Amino acid sequence: MSETSIPTLEDLESTLGDLSGKRVLVRTDFNVPLDDDGQITDDFRIRAALPTIEWLVERGATVVTASHLGRPKGAPDPKYSMDAVRARLGELAPGVELLENLRFDPGETADDPAFVATLVEGIDGYVNDAFGASHRAHASIVGPPRFVPSAMGRLLQKEVEVLLGLRNKPKHPFVAVLGGAKISDKLGVVEALLEVVDSLVIGGAMCFTFFAAQGKPIGDSLFEPDQVDTCKRLLAEAGAKGKTIHLPEDITGVDARGEYATFGTRLPDGAKGFDIGPGSAAAFTDVIMDARMVFWNGPMGMFEDERFASGTRTVAQAMADTKAFTVVGGGDSAAALAQFKLDDEVDHVSTGGGASLELLENGDLPGLQALREGIR
Ligand code: 3PG
Repeated sequence: MSETSIPTLEDLESTLGDLSGKRVLVRTDFNVPLDDDGQITDDFRIRAALPTIEWLVERGATVVTASHLGRPKGAPDPKYSMDAVRARLGELAPGVELLENLRFDPGETADDPAFVATLVEGIDGYVNDAFGASHRAHASIVGPPRFVPSAMGRLLQKEVEVLLGLRNKPKHPFVAVLGGAKISDKLGVVEALLEVVDSLVIGGAMCFTFFAAQGKPIGDSLFEPDQVDTCKRLLAEAGAKGKTIHLPEDITGVDARGEYATFGTRLPDGAKGFDIGPGSAAAFTDVIMDARMVFWNGPMGMFEDERFASGTRTVAQAMADTKAFTVVGGGDSAAALAQFKLDDEVDHVSTGGGASLELLENGDLPGLQALREGIR
């Protein structure tokens, strides 16, 4: 049994005995990005499930994988068919079955017992390797462990080990670098992180809500008016705990005429900030280089536009260069790292976006609880 009291693949093997000929359902997170032609643009999540699939196949198990893709509304939708994923999986793991998109059935998101029953029919064991979906109490995540011997796969195990390690065994200085548009999306995790980190580095549009909390003019930059008081509270709380919140010292964006411009931390009327400036990027690099542990989630700016990619690129490069133990949350920051070809240069890139934040915030996930509780 693992440190987290969740059965591992080895535990499943001891429960089921010889796995040869046993049918094992593996819940994977194959929710991969697709282009307009339905082609996979990044197969990271499919490759990440291979160690578990191969381990089971090597032992003679018949592996049936199942995943959601996108957010179809509980009915078949050709846009979200698993065909492209099935084709890629067929190249990487020939002979492994993949069920149709779980969210084509309304029973998936509702955790409907009737849908769970169809999933476990004819199945000897269940493995959850869908870290990215384990914060969802959906049928395929929390259902099967109630009925058949179950375990976490290698990917889920690694994600939990690394992310709970940040929370429970931090190495100081521990720095969390947070970006993205909205502080409201990350409030819970910011509060949890403030308990364990030495400093928080804030970039992305969420910095404008902090600037507004400091009474600074932000021009027409994106911000959340209803979160200004929250940011005031976070700044005060951090101060009281002896923690530092590093905010940008300069911003790049466009002026009132729409021309590219660099500003300090007071943006003139009509200006819009889209990235941290070079001074901030250099300062953030220093903080990352001096750390022993760094968690990064959320881009520093609108990196899809090359004019506003340099803050995110500089932070990604610092993540690659620092000697600190580096963990990158999934979603946009993982996509940015891949875009800059630095994804092999950090210690761990999580396959989970929401799941990694929720695990850091709560120290647990519905999918982990279900595996821990087992058959009921
Ligand atoms: C993700 O992409 O973060 C996971 O696959 C979960 O997807 P969801 O947010 O649609 O549940």
